[in-house]
Amino acid sequence: MNFSFVAGDAFQAGGAMLVIPLLDGELGDGAPPAFVAADKALEGALRAAATQEGFKGKADQTLVLNTLGKLAAERVLLLGLGARAKFTPEQLRLAAGRAAKAVQKLKLGELDFVLPDTQPPEAAVRALVEGLLLGTYKFDRYKTAGGKEDKKGQRLKAVRILLPSGLQRDESLEEAVELGRRVAEATNWARELVNEPPNVVNPERLAQAAQEVAKEAGLKATIGGRREIERLKMGMFLAVAQGSVNEPRLIHLAYVPKNAKDARRAPLALVGKAITFDSGGLSLKPSDSMIDMKTDMAGSAAVLGAMKVIGALKPPFPVHAFIGSCENMPSGTAYRPGDILTSRLGKTVEITNTDAEGRLVLGDILTWAGEHKPAAMIDLATLTGACVIALGNYIVGAFGEHDATVEGVLKAAKAAGEELWRMPVAEQQKDALRSEVADMKNSGERWGGAINAALFLKEFVGDTPWVHLDIAGPATSPKERGYLNKGATGVGVRTLVEYVRALAASPRAMAAEEPSAPARPARGKARGRSPRA
Ligand code: BES
Ligand code: MN
Ligand code: ZN
Repeated sequence: MNFSFVAGDAFQAGGAMLVIPLLDGELGDGAPPAFVAADKALEGALRAAATQEGFKGKADQTLVLNTLGKLAAERVLLLGLGARAKFTPEQLRLAAGRAAKAVQKLKLGELDFVLPDTQPPEAAVRALVEGLLLGTYKFDRYKTAGGKEDKKGQRLKAVRILLPSGLQRDESLEEAVELGRRVAEATNWARELVNEPPNVVNPERLAQAAQEVAKEAGLKATIGGRREIERLKMGMFLAVAQGSVNEPRLIHLAYVPKNAKDARRAPLALVGKAITFDSGGLSLKPSDSMIDMKTDMAGSAAVLGAMKVIGALKPPFPVHAFIGSCENMPSGTAYRPGDILTSRLGKTVEITNTDAEGRLVLGDILTWAGEHKPAAMIDLATLTGACVIALGNYIVGAFGEHDATVEGVLKAAKAAGEELWRMPVAEQQKDALRSEVADMKNSGERWGGAINAALFLKEFVGDTPWVHLDIAGPATSPKERGYLNKGATGVGVRTLVEYVRALAASPRAMAAEEPSAPARPARGKARGRSPRA
């Protein structure tokens, strides 16, 4: 998709479709110049049609009109942005997504998009680019030509962004386009990896995808199999993996800055859940709950998508990704309820539910990540149904006790247009994980299930500032919405990229992130193993 900027009253240049975003109530006196001019050329028909169709500029409204040759553009698309007081670039991102879907349905190859006059313009440009690119994504790889709805359909190829008067095309706007493009493409890449069926994306294929990311983004990749996981004594990860004929994979990607001084800084560690299919294991899920469990690797897809962008952004500190990938299957070799496992950290865990597998793999991976002495760790995981009960399909649960790091991630999410809500790591509930026979058990009572999972993970984190994002709800969308389709969303890519950008832009924040003393290893019966690259 090619983006270009046009200044002034260029809507007269025309094209297949002129897109005019409008705030709620903006059709009155304060209508934007592009709307006024188009309405004038159409002899008032635009405003009249909007009134008749009840288009007011509400956040989910769209209206397409054919201009019947009275305007250079063949069609006008009015896009509602919602209330001015509630306007954020995310409203524009969602609206641009709707525009992309409308354009695709009409099979148009080009459009002219009026940039709303909001500050800063770079944020609007980025949201517009992201919304259009995300909005055109479709998972149709497995539709054969006969089944493809848009087999002869044109792809949206050319977008002209019409700048409000007084704004000139400049380098910062071009950079906003490039950043938006990178982020949206990485997000769509993550969506594709999540949407791929579980017979295609198994642990081996996920590791291959990671290797491709590394090659493209100039990262170091280290991939290990069962033997390596055994060598690292990841007893919890091994147990989850042992029920499947598909071999597990241990994935480590590292972005290291070229500058030697920057390269020595404490890294940021990103951890992603990567269960390529979660049947529940012997604590088998009911059929209906199993259908979407190919998406149980969405956390790792988001981490890998973010690493793609991070390799290109080249922040002045290292960023590492740690992923343990396997399937959770029932079989004669599967781990059992009642099994007692020894984690890499040394803590023992009684299995009370083999469907609480994510925390087991993540526990060992978080211990391993912590051994690399990161300044902070962020994990993303489709961890609990309870988090979906609590926050629904569109909001990520954010857990962590290191306030500055949690707040940094929340702020990044806000800037990126992803919704996070902070949840408590409520110690009162720790009893839920108490075991009679081991140091703890892997699943407790139902109530506060998302908190119990966070409490479990915390046992393996030690003193490193850590944020856990439960993305079980927002990893997929139940319906088409804005730039989303039914299916994978790529949630997390934008937040992670924004967090890294914010750290990179604030040298003081990075100084604060550097541990004054070497980070202590996680507590527990640690084996005192030295970190390996
Ligand atoms: N992968 C699931 C969580 C999940 C649920 C993700 C719905 C996406 C949508 C996870 O492994 C799981 O099964 N969690 C259990 C934990 C329970 C057994 C303690 C759950 O949430 O029911
Ligand atoms: Mn499970
Ligand atoms: Zn799971």
